[in-house]
Amino acid sequence: MKFDKKLTVSHFRKRKEKGEKIVCLTAYDAPTAKLAEECGVELILVGDSLGMAVLGYKTTIPLTIEQSLHHCRAVRRGAKFSFIVGDMPFMTYQISPEDAMRNAARYMQEACVDAVKIEGGSAAMAHTVERLVAAGVPVMGHIGLLPQNILTAGAYKVTGRTEADAARLMSDAKALQEAGAFCVVLEAMPATLGKMISSELLIPTIGIGAGPDCDGQVQVVNDILGLFTDFVPKHTRRYANLNEDIRKAFSSYVKDVSEKKFPAEENSF
Ligand code: KIV
Repeated sequence: MKFDKKLTVSHFRKRKEKGEKIVCLTAYDAPTAKLAEECGVELILVGDSLGMAVLGYKTTIPLTIEQSLHHCRAVRRGAKFSFIVGDMPFMTYQISPEDAMRNAARYMQEACVDAVKIEGGSAAMAHTVERLVAAGVPVMGHIGLLPQNILTAGAYKVTGRTEADAARLMSDAKALQEAGAFCVVLEAMPATLGKMISSELLIPTIGIGAGPDCDGQVQVVNDILGLFTDFVPKHTRRYANLNEDIRKAFSSYVKDVSEKKFPAEENSF
């Protein structure tokens, strides 16, 4: 898909109505965002996975708003037409709706993103979404596995396996829709539940480990490019093995410089 104008929230609702799948990917820098846009990625999420994928933190908790905004600005410079979502870091929206609004304004004004994402579907979070949307901020919801809750949850686990948990997730998804979220990420839940939520909601669902029946899919770019090598998460598929390619390239460069084979005549002035 080639974009000749900037995508807006209505694009995603129309895609769902037509039964067309929405393609989302994370990106954290301008060249990756440019490539993603050129290849047809409609929604680029500057995920707080930035903290782990790029900045070397063990969890997403230490990521600050300044770091996130810095990378959102880079992604915006790289992609003109794709819809860019800034993922609000831990404690930048949980303290109060007013705090969330002040911080969301920074994403819209300082990084020129098209929307923000916040985690959680509790009544308090739905209220925050409502306030943000009323103030003119498009919001992407996020339910299921919530990486910012890792310290209270204790582990990254699949959610919605019990009837009660599945019912809670369904009600959270509906509360976010009611509050005005333009779409909702479903992370790590049984495919059957991903399907049920997707068919009940009018807004698009974007799955990551929530099965093939979500209205769209999102992946962490480092996972699909094979840059994260500790293990392959079950929800991902490797489309490249850049870790291997980079290793080979760096080793060849080290060898060439050490053996005085680089620079050659054609690289010299
Ligand atoms: O931070 C992130 O990359 C995300 C996606 C996994 C949905 O929240």
